[in-house]
Amino acid sequence: MSKGTKRVPVSELRSYAEAVLTAAGTVAADAKVVVDNLLDANLRGVDSHGISRLGIYCKRVELGLVARSTEVTVVRACGIAALVSGNNGSGAVVGVKAMDLAIAKAKEFGIGVGGGKESTHCGTLAYYTSRAVREGLIGFAATNAPSTMPAWGARQPYFGTNPLSYAVPTGNPERPIVFDMATSTVARGKIILAAKIKQSIPEGWALDKNGYPTTDGQAAFEGLMLPVGGHKGSGLALLVEILSGVITGAAIGPQMGHLYGDFAKPQGTGHFFAAMKTDLFLSQEEFQARIDHLCAEIRALPPAPGHQAVLLPGDPERQTKAERLENGIPLSQEVIDELIALGKCYGVDVADYLPKGI
Ligand SMILES: NC(=O)c1ccc[n+]([C@@H]2O[C@H](COP(=O)([O-])OP(=O)(O)OC[C@H]3O[C@@H](n4cnc5c(N)ncnc54)[C@H](O)[C@@H]3O)[C@@H](O)[C@H]2O)c1
Repeated sequence: MSKGTKRVPVSELRSYAEAVLTAAGTVAADAKVVVDNLLDANLRGVDSHGISRLGIYCKRVELGLVARSTEVTVVRACGIAALVSGNNGSGAVVGVKAMDLAIAKAKEFGIGVGGGKESTHCGTLAYYTSRAVREGLIGFAATNAPSTMPAWGARQPYFGTNPLSYAVPTGNPERPIVFDMATSTVARGKIILAAKIKQSIPEGWALDKNGYPTTDGQAAFEGLMLPVGGHKGSGLALLVEILSGVITGAAIGPQMGHLYGDFAKPQGTGHFFAAMKTDLFLSQEEFQARIDHLCAEIRALPPAPGHQAVLLPGDPERQTKAERLENGIPLSQEVIDELIALGKCYGVDVADYLPKGI
């Protein structure tokens, strides 16, 4: 049973989280990027990949499994592509660097590709594809993740929840299309959060460790994720594994270290990013007219029963972000208690940062 939620102002939460991550050992510049990635997820309503991850990030830094200062080195670059090693640094820092390389290549050649290996958990992918959109480019991102999901037909995990994201600029810079999904029925973060706050989960999200369907958050956490759409989600997870794991030289499938359960080695995560100009085939004016036409026609479709409006990917998160920027991020008391305990552990006093009564 959940202990309820409280609203926490974004800027105070940002300062507190940066202070805690820095106290755990991460250099300030990296802590800024990592916390920005986490809070961006909370702001957009993707709480599974938000500030509730701070504790495990701190722990892995403290254990030396994530470098305190992320040295991103370009290990291979040719024409449109560049591959970086994150040297086991913070995944968000590695992701930003690899996506920015793809963006720079796209600006020069029309299309650019950035790979990352020897990286760690990089949070939500919309964070990276949105960077491409801000530069007027189409963005694509994929990352492999610790093995928790079977390849279709197996009863043992192989893939991670291997997410992919794309983002496309439109005529309205405030309303790009931003699609971002795990290839599991839901992101594993939702199971982690459910286990943490002792909530049940809907049927169809997961199997228990013996392969039986479960609605228990903790049993799902210990069990297997289900791919979205059965064999189809499994096929997409395979594509993500190939792009982010196989071609980059990163860890593949069960080789990858588990974020929560494997404290013997760094994760070895791989990422794949791409950026593309919007006028490769048509003029920029034609592209813009056509993408705006597409968006307008889809939004104008009559809603089906149970839907108030037809939305495009990114719309729900944008609405949530506007509301949360104004009213603060709702955090469960369990997550707040954990954040306070983290601060104590690293000598950061919550009272110096967050409002009284939190
Ligand atoms: N780094 C990692 O290892 C890792 C692993 C798995 C997932 N993730 C992240 O977890 C996050 C959550 O993934 P998810 O699968 O739960 O996402 P989700 O199911 O909440 O949303 C998927 C997409 O559907 C769109 N959408 C939602 N409702 C819509 C509607 N009514 N109409 C049109 N579009 C709509 C959203 O805008 C979003 O782009 C993602 O950000 C992903 O990057 C990260």
